[in-house]
Amino acid sequence: KNIALVGVPMDLGQMRRGVDMGPSAIRYAGVIERLEQLGHTVEDLGDIRIDQPEREHTADTNLRNLDAVVKGSTELATTVRSVKEKGDFPLILGGDHSIAIGSLAGISKRYENLGVIWYDAHGDLNTGETSPSGNIHGMPLAVSLGIGHPDLVNILDYTPKVKPENIVIIGARSLDEGERELIKERGIRVYTMHEIDRMGMTKVIEESIDYLKGRTDGVHLSLDLDGLDPLDAPGVGTPVIGGISYRESHLAMEMLAEADLLTSAEFVEVNPILDEKNKTAKVAVALMGSLFGEKLL
Ligand code: ARG
Ligand code: MN
Ligand code: MN
Ligand code: MN
Repeated sequence: KNIALVGVPMDLGQMRRGVDMGPSAIRYAGVIERLEQLGHTVEDLGDIRIDQPEREHTADTNLRNLDAVVKGSTELATTVRSVKEKGDFPLILGGDHSIAIGSLAGISKRYENLGVIWYDAHGDLNTGETSPSGNIHGMPLAVSLGIGHPDLVNILDYTPKVKPENIVIIGARSLDEGERELIKERGIRVYTMHEIDRMGMTKVIEESIDYLKGRTDGVHLSLDLDGLDPLDAPGVGTPVIGGISYRESHLAMEMLAEADLLTSAEFVEVNPILDEKNKTAKVAVALMGSLFGEKLL
């Protein structure tokens, strides 16, 4: 594959500083060498420019740093769109999960029915009205469905970016009331930790692949490191105990690699300030290895 690496040093979608160093931490953990060793071509496009906002709250909204997030998302969307136009595989490094707004805006231009695997402890399906925090990193999936602040929803001048029936959420264990309602109302497929424990990751991924294969013309993986258990991925801003293990995650990545389903991916929420000796970035790179075809034998 021709992989185009895009860093997004974004920390404005939530309250804890440091997640803007995620792209550096992941590069330092050896992502380029790892992927090149597998025979892929990697072009590092560097980092998207993210503004430091003058004020935290934009006028007449409870969404924190709205203007700066809109600006960064638009720039990311434009970059990712041109990566797709070249036919390369975008691999996007976060940054907090608000960056998925820009990623999906840029990627989905190319697809009629883009599928999304949302690997996360959270649904990220809040709006300004349902959000308990005002943090935009809790909203990107709703925004991509066309639900939320118009400035976010209309990035690159089209909406929605994804259809609810083309989404699979894996690893959910913390959902707000409004998110639960949206999931039911729109019929979004969710494998919570209950289903993962009950069915096993093998079945969860097999079903997800079957489900998406039939209805989509491309699939984006949006992997929030807090989908993993905090014991395996401690360097995240909103950890939730009882998560997906390191081993289950590797299995999931290996199965996705075998299915050759994905057309883009992003790894988000790596926060080096909260991490233990870059453990979480190293986990992210190890998972990317599996996702791009690494095998022991
Ligand atoms: N649901 C909570 C909120 O809206 C937490 C969101 C966490 N999202 C994330 N990408 N880590 O604030
Ligand atoms: Mn900052
Ligand atoms: Mn999360
Ligand atoms: Mn998330």
